[in-house]
Amino acid sequence: MSQNSSLKSLYKLSPAERLQKLADYANLSEAELMALNVGLSTEQANAMIENVVGRYVLPLGLATNFLINGQELVVPMVVEESSIVAGVSYAAKLIRAGGGFKTSSSDPIMIGQVQLLDISDLDKAVEQLKVAEGDLLAAANQHHPTIQKLGGGAKGIEYRLLPNTAAGPMLIVHILYDCRDAMGANAVNTAAEGIAPLIEQITGGRVNLRILSNLTDQRTAKVECLIPIEQLAKGDVSGAQVAQFVFEAWALADADPYRAATHNKGVMNGIDAVAIATGNDWRAIEAGAHAYAARKGRYSSLTTWSIVTKANTSTHLRGALDMPLSVGTVGGATKAHPTARVAMKILGHPNARTLAEIMVAVGLAQNLAAIRALATEGIQQGHMRLHARQVALSVGAQGAKVQEIANKLVAEGTIRAERARELVGLVKQT
Ligand code: MEV
Repeated sequence: MSQNSSLKSLYKLSPAERLQKLADYANLSEAELMALNVGLSTEQANAMIENVVGRYVLPLGLATNFLINGQELVVPMVVEESSIVAGVSYAAKLIRAGGGFKTSSSDPIMIGQVQLLDISDLDKAVEQLKVAEGDLLAAANQHHPTIQKLGGGAKGIEYRLLPNTAAGPMLIVHILYDCRDAMGANAVNTAAEGIAPLIEQITGGRVNLRILSNLTDQRTAKVECLIPIEQLAKGDVSGAQVAQFVFEAWALADADPYRAATHNKGVMNGIDAVAIATGNDWRAIEAGAHAYAARKGRYSSLTTWSIVTKANTSTHLRGALDMPLSVGTVGGATKAHPTARVAMKILGHPNARTLAEIMVAVGLAQNLAAIRALATEGIQQGHMRLHARQVALSVGAQGAKVQEIANKLVAEGTIRAERARELVGLVKQT
C-alpha cells in the first residue's frame, strides 16, 4: 500500500467509521468488509477441526504508522488484551521518525528431524548416509514436485550425534527443506517420513520419530530501527533519560530469565496477534521463539536495545530483533479463513518472507511500547484506562455510558466490577 499508514485519528472513530476508512485505504469490497466482522461460517469451522459446536470471536484491530523498508503498512492484529494495538501504533510512530524499520529474512528453510536408533557406531552411520545423500534428497523430494518447481524442496542434510540420551545413543538426521511460501509443516513431515525407510536400509538402524522442528533457526527474520533520542521525551523526562531507562530495562531482560520471559511475552503480544489475524500457527512461532531465546545456553531477551552516537549525527536508540519465524501465505487457515484472507489483503498480499519481516517489525515495536511504558509511567496507567472500559462493558454498560463509567472508575482509582455495577445502577436511575 502506498497510502500513508497513520490513518489519522483512527482511535477517535466508531468501529463502523474505521471500517470505512480501512475500506478506502485497502480498497476492500462489501464482501471483504463483511468478512472482517462475520468471519468463519459454522460449516467452514466444521471443516477445520473436530467436534465443532461454534465459533469464538476475538477483536481485530489495526496497528498504524508502520513504515517498513520504505513501505507504508497498516497491520491487522487479533488479540484480546487492551493497550497492545495502541502501544504498538505509538511505538511504530516513534520508529518512523528515525526512518522506519529495516528488515531482512533468510530463505524459508525448515528442518525435518528423523530419529535413528539401534546404531552401534554413530560416526559410521553418518559416513554411510553421506555417501547416499543424493538418493536421500531425491526420496525427500518425491512427494512435493510443485514446491520443487517453485525453487523449494529438500536442499541439504545435517547430522546430530546424541551419544548419551536417556534412551541410549541416537543419530538425528536433519533434512533442510525450503518451503517457499508455505509454512511447510505438511511438506517437511512428508519428506521426513519419505526418507525414513532409506535411512534404515542404509544404516541398518531403526527410525522412531519423523517430524519437523519448531526451532526454525534457518528460517529467520531480522529487523532494526534507530530512533532519534529526542523523540522519546515524555513529559518532564528528557529523551536521553527515557532512552537510558529503556536500555536499563533491556539489560535486565538480557541478564535475567525471570524478566526475559516477560520481556519476550511483550514481543510475542505483537507477533502472535498478526499470526492469528493472518491464519498462521502461533504455537509453532511461540515454540521457536522461546527455544531460540535459550540458544546460547541461558534464556535471554530476543531483542537488543542500545544507545548509539555516531560522529556528526545525533544520538539514537537502536533496537534489533532476529528470531525464527515459520509463517506461510499459501494453504492452511491463511487461505481457508475469510478474515485471514482480508488481513492478507490489508497487508498487500505479502509472500511468506515479507510477512515474517512484518511480524518481526511488529514484535520489536511491541517490545519498545512495553518497556518504554514500564520504564516511565508504568504499565498500569494505560492498561487500567482500557481495562476500565472492559469492566464497564462486562457489567452491562452500553453506548456512551461505557466510556463515562470507565472514566469514573479511573478517576476513583478503583476499577472493580462491584463499583462499576453500582455506577450502571446510578446511571439507570438518572
Ligand atoms: C503484558 O502483556 C506484556 C508486558 O508485561 C511486557 C513486558 O513486561 O515487557 C507489559
